[in-house]
Amino acid sequence: MAAMSVGYQQLLDAAIGHLEELKAQGVKFVSLSPETLAALGPSPAQPAAVEPAVPGRPSSPPPQTKPASQSPVVQPQSNMAASPVSPLASTQHPDPALSASSAAAPAGRETKEAAMAELRARAMVCRKCPHLAASRKNVVFGVGDVDSPLMFVGEAPGADEDEQGEPFVGKAGQLLTRIIQTMGFTRDTVYIANILKCRPDTPGQTVGNRKPAPEEMQTCMPYLLAQLDIIEPKVIVALGATAVEGLLGKTGGITKLRGHWHEFRGVPVMPTYHPAYLLRNEALSEKRKVWEDMLQVLEKLGRPISEKQRNYFLKA
Ligand code: URA
Ligand code: URA
Repeated sequence: MAAMSVGYQQLLDAAIGHLEELKAQGVKFVSLSPETLAALGPSPAQPAAVEPAVPGRPSSPPPQTKPASQSPVVQPQSNMAASPVSPLASTQHPDPALSASSAAAPAGRETKEAAMAELRARAMVCRKCPHLAASRKNVVFGVGDVDSPLMFVGEAPGADEDEQGEPFVGKAGQLLTRIIQTMGFTRDTVYIANILKCRPDTPGQTVGNRKPAPEEMQTCMPYLLAQLDIIEPKVIVALGATAVEGLLGKTGGITKLRGHWHEFRGVPVMPTYHPAYLLRNEALSEKRKVWEDMLQVLEKLGRPISEKQRNYFLKA
């Protein structure tokens, strides 16, 4: 990867971005010319490589001096096509033009893990936001069970997450972990990710966080969309106003939105307060609100709810 030219990376990013836009619009197939298909060869059995390798094509990276937009090399674009449009296709079908979602049975855990590993490898080297790529210590991709019915979506990594490369490991994260456990899950049995995979930079500041910019969220969303497509959760919990804005495009205020079901690409979304809010406002009533939202989530998932669970954070 280190040897890959900037121009080539930009070309791939542009191709991936374009395909992800198509996918967001509901496009499930892309057409490839027979020549391109032939050049691609069979899909690798192990999709763990940073970018799907094209055996026997050592000349693919264009010279660094050439602007990516003028590059005549089209095969790498098509090569990446199979991956973002149908992240599961490469392990299910030797034919990259086949879509996983419409043709095949629900993807199993192994298939999902392979697709997620491939997506993670792409995110790890992402430079779509050059300022964030320059300031980050780690890309914070996501953690948990790729086959979980329940997914939590936050805003962006903070300093602790940037340091460790894992979402929700700081103070707010520890509270989220307790909430998850109180629900009867663990961090390993849900999936946790953020809208933004890199920590928002704070130039000239040594402490503090900033809200992700709309362009940053837009740029990073394709990764979350691809994560959602792989996991196919039954319920998404959107943690805080920024996650709600990123997922639902709603800026109506988390106070009004929380506690009510919304939908994102057919998946029920429960907005709730961000755990960082609960750390700032320790009132029992606010904890109870989040907890009632989580009880609704458990009900939606068809999970049994104990009497003890029902009564958490109620006044004595
Ligand atoms: N806040 C978030 O929104 N996400 C994290 O990963 C950590 C804190
Ligand atoms: N546990 C907590 O600490 N807070 C909640 O809101 C729910 C469970």
